[in-house]
Amino acid sequence: MNRSLGLLMFVSLLACSASLAAENRETVAVIGTGDMGDSFGPRLAALGYRVVYGSRNPGSDKVNALLERTGYDATATTQKEAARQADVVLLAIPWPAMETVAQNLGDLGGKVVIDMSWPPYDIAEDGYAQITLETSAAELIQGWNPDAMVAKAFLTVWSHVIDDPSSAGGPVSIPIASNYRYAKEKTGQIAADLGLHPVDAGPLRFSRNIESLTELGLVPWYQERDNLWNIYFQRSNFIACSGYGGDGADEEITSIVDAGDLAVMPSTQLSPKPCAN
Ligand SMILES: NC(=O)c1ccc[n+]([C@@H]2O[C@H](COP(=O)([O-])OP(=O)(O)OC[C@H]3O[C@@H](n4cnc5c(N)ncnc54)[C@H](OP(=O)(O)O)[C@@H]3O)[C@@H](O)[C@H]2O)c1
Repeated sequence: MNRSLGLLMFVSLLACSASLAAENRETVAVIGTGDMGDSFGPRLAALGYRVVYGSRNPGSDKVNALLERTGYDATATTQKEAARQADVVLLAIPWPAMETVAQNLGDLGGKVVIDMSWPPYDIAEDGYAQITLETSAAELIQGWNPDAMVAKAFLTVWSHVIDDPSSAGGPVSIPIASNYRYAKEKTGQIAADLGLHPVDAGPLRFSRNIESLTELGLVPWYQERDNLWNIYFQRSNFIACSGYGGDGADEEITSIVDAGDLAVMPSTQLSPKPCAN
């Protein structure tokens, strides 16, 4: 085989495996074509995911323009049909529309359903936001779809950071809460693919903590400051450096619900300095 023929075969092999990889990527239904949906869709498509938008008006000029911008054979259909086609269902719908939408997407059994919604809130006497749910939006969605694998994620990131993570000026964390290891790992992979930093934030009940960041995140808004927050979880080597976590720690750890079956998240975080000693 001459060298140029070899090179040609190598390049074709690469192209073939790249397109196979793209074909093997999951189908993501992006439900809602607003500020978040039109950020996630184009990025995910460019990353090799098959994107199907779920919209109330899939034939509208707005959705056609989004399809053109998205490229990569993305399609648009009804919300329910998009969810049916998908492995991963990304709910980019505002509350309270979510209440209707998330109860009418059909059988979501075995699918990863990512809820990024701000929970409903009102304004407390002191003028700041106050969440009105007793549990969380994500737990309600899980309750309406008991066979789905719901994950709470991406509530703490702004759409322009999805468009361009470098616009944040530094790393941005994505805490992910779910009762399903698979859903955490899949959502974590999507976050890492997007250039963000996934963090295992515990079981779905901990979506309350993630959602409460809405209240915290709106503090500078009500204070009329110039900037809102992106959040970043910095790794700490407190355990290694302090010697904490020795006797007795195992006992506490074996009592947690996912002990021995922790999600393996993509390791994107920066490392702390070694212990000073
Ligand atoms: N924007 C952000 O930076 C940001 C950041 C963090 C979290 N979030 C959360 O992400 C979710 C999406 O936010 P967004 O800013 O993209 O919202 P948005 O622009 O207001 O709207 C999202 C889309 O939801 C669909 N929709 C609206 N009302 C609906 C209804 N009554 N029934 C069914 N579908 C309806 C529409 O898509 P179709 O016209 O195609 O049906 C709409 O374009 C929200 O829960 C929000 O709290 C947003």
